[in-house]
Amino acid sequence: MKFVRYTLLAGLAIATPLTMAQTSTKLKVGLMLPYTGTYAALGNAIENGFRLRIEEQGGKLGGREIEFIKVDDESDPSKATDNVNKLIKRDNVDVLVGTVHSGVAMAMAKVAKDTGTILIVPNAGAEAVTGAMCAPNIFRSSFTNWQPAYAMGEVAAKKGVKKAVTITHKYAAGDESVKGFREALEKGGGQVVKDLSLPFPGVEFQALLTEIAATKPDAVYAFFAGGAAVKFVKDYAAAGLKKSIPLYGPGFLTDGTLDAQGADADGLITALHYADSLGTARDNAFRLAYAKTYKLQPDVYAVQGYDAAQMLAIGLTAAKGDITKHAQFTAAIEKARIDSPRGPFTLSKSHNPVQDIYLRQVVGKENKFVSVATKALADPARGCRM
Ligand code: PHB
Repeated sequence: MKFVRYTLLAGLAIATPLTMAQTSTKLKVGLMLPYTGTYAALGNAIENGFRLRIEEQGGKLGGREIEFIKVDDESDPSKATDNVNKLIKRDNVDVLVGTVHSGVAMAMAKVAKDTGTILIVPNAGAEAVTGAMCAPNIFRSSFTNWQPAYAMGEVAAKKGVKKAVTITHKYAAGDESVKGFREALEKGGGQVVKDLSLPFPGVEFQALLTEIAATKPDAVYAFFAGGAAVKFVKDYAAAGLKKSIPLYGPGFLTDGTLDAQGADADGLITALHYADSLGTARDNAFRLAYAKTYKLQPDVYAVQGYDAAQMLAIGLTAAKGDITKHAQFTAAIEKARIDSPRGPFTLSKSHNPVQDIYLRQVVGKENKFVSVATKALADPARGCRM
């Protein structure tokens, strides 16, 4: 449907075509994130990053003003389908952005696929989202669980780790992370001698730490994030293990958590697609703007939220503000080089970032860049037919 806009210019009426989407209506973004529970800080950082990009673009993305409909998903997969259906059917959102927890994200991806709603995932690494469930309308601005895990496994093998113990919350993200680590460690000549886990979001680590002490591996690989990562790193040190058994993990173990972990995190080595001291002009500008706006230091989650907004803007611009033009929207993101604070990245055919994974080490309150662990790492996207 076309409207005609009449602009009075120097006494002349000029008619320019205007599509429905370019009217004054705001683009409704369904923001589904955890605002309570162990991942609450992650959800807030993602929203902050997303909003920062809008602010930088004068309050708009791709020419459209944005209206948020927010849902606290509580990182609870049992509520996820209802939550996402409400956003689509009751609130009529134009696009979904979420979430952190892999189990919730898989429910979102299923509904997005069934209804054809555009979905941008700003964290959750569930491999199925850009694997078996991949779809032209589903995008990710973050990572797959395999990516940092595999890079960390390669590094551990190079460091001579022969026997490792893994520990994680028992759900898709942890299971996939552990699997990626094992794959690379085994390739490099090491092995995982024990997999430990506890139900999400439990933090009763004591019995598991006792088991680690008794097993005496060369290293431990831990997948925890947010509040659970804070407690695990502190408990690991308190149990006296930090001195004797190196603790590795995907960078979630120490990202956005260092203020709370204090000296117990000092020296920890992790792998992730972001670090606090990249020192590029792009990242410096982002970090300065974020710190000024929120009086907080950004973390990987803030970057992923920021980049989700960048991807949405790229798609919208190509679709001239009309998000229902899926072909234009998708084609533009597929060929984009996204100018991320983490470093530029492109999307794979399955719509997951192809990106450098950095080795980082905790020094004081920073995850300091050490080296590029793996260059331009692409998830294998097992099961994606697109
Ligand atoms: C996930 O559930 O996929 C997940 C959650 C928190 C992280 C990373 C991955 O920091």
